Amino acid sequence: MSSAGLLQVIKKRRSVRVYKTGKVTDKQLETILEAARWAPSGANTQPWEFVVTRDREKMKRTREIFYNEWKQRKLEDPVNYKGLTKYYVGDAAVLVLVCGDPRTMKVYLTTRRPGDREKLFQASVASAVEQMMLAAASMGLGTVWVSVREEIEPELRELFKVPQPIRLLWVVPIGHARFWPGAKPRRKVSDFTHQESYEPKKLRSESLIRAWPKG
Ligand SMILES: Cc1cc2nc3c(=O)[nH]c(=O)nc-3n(C[C@H](O)[C@H](O)[C@H](O)COP(=O)(O)O)c2cc1C
Repeated sequence: MSSAGLLQVIKKRRSVRVYKTGKVTDKQLETILEAARWAPSGANTQPWEFVVTRDREKMKRTREIFYNEWKQRKLEDPVNYKGLTKYYVGDAAVLVLVCGDPRTMKVYLTTRRPGDREKLFQASVASAVEQMMLAAASMGLGTVWVSVREEIEPELRELFKVPQPIRLLWVVPIGHARFWPGAKPRRKVSDFTHQESYEPKKLRSESLIRAWPKG
């Protein structure tokens, strides 16, 4: 594939939050997981573990778990809490629970600080997630990277029987987009690229960062 083709897939990928019914075939799923398999990882530890489900009941329960957390947060702070419901976790054809085995951090022999180990661990799993999403996008399938907050982690663990010490990091629905969302704004390359040394004039103010459109 040409770099232009690759960039086209990268730019095509969107966070899809509204799904319609439609199959994700075993072959497509295999390709998506194969893409994850080839992700880079710290010291080649390959710390990712994926729990993959197509079970409607489990997805319904997952949707409920996310919804209950949203409802609780909204109840606690109806004015300021701006979180959105995440119905999409139960609406796609496939749901992937993205986990990681933290024991792989022991392989980073020369890395002593816990923060550095955590960085390697999460970045490694994240690189696999990104590769999955790009593979899905290349086949016209939608995905979205969904955060799992600590509040709901125990319930999800129980539902999917994720054992200790495996960490549950994110969930990624995979399915057919009801509509393909438009591109969110991106910073200009020149705004985040610093030539030779950090260019002080490019250091964004706090207010500029806070004003940045969310999504
Ligand atoms: C680490 C991470 C966590 C995210 N968590 C969520 C989430 O919980 N819910 C959600 O709808 N989107 C989530 N997103 C998706 C971002 O909102 C999205 O990537 C961003 O707004 C840019 O839009 P795009 O993916 O369509 O280009 C997450 C993305 C990343 C990388």
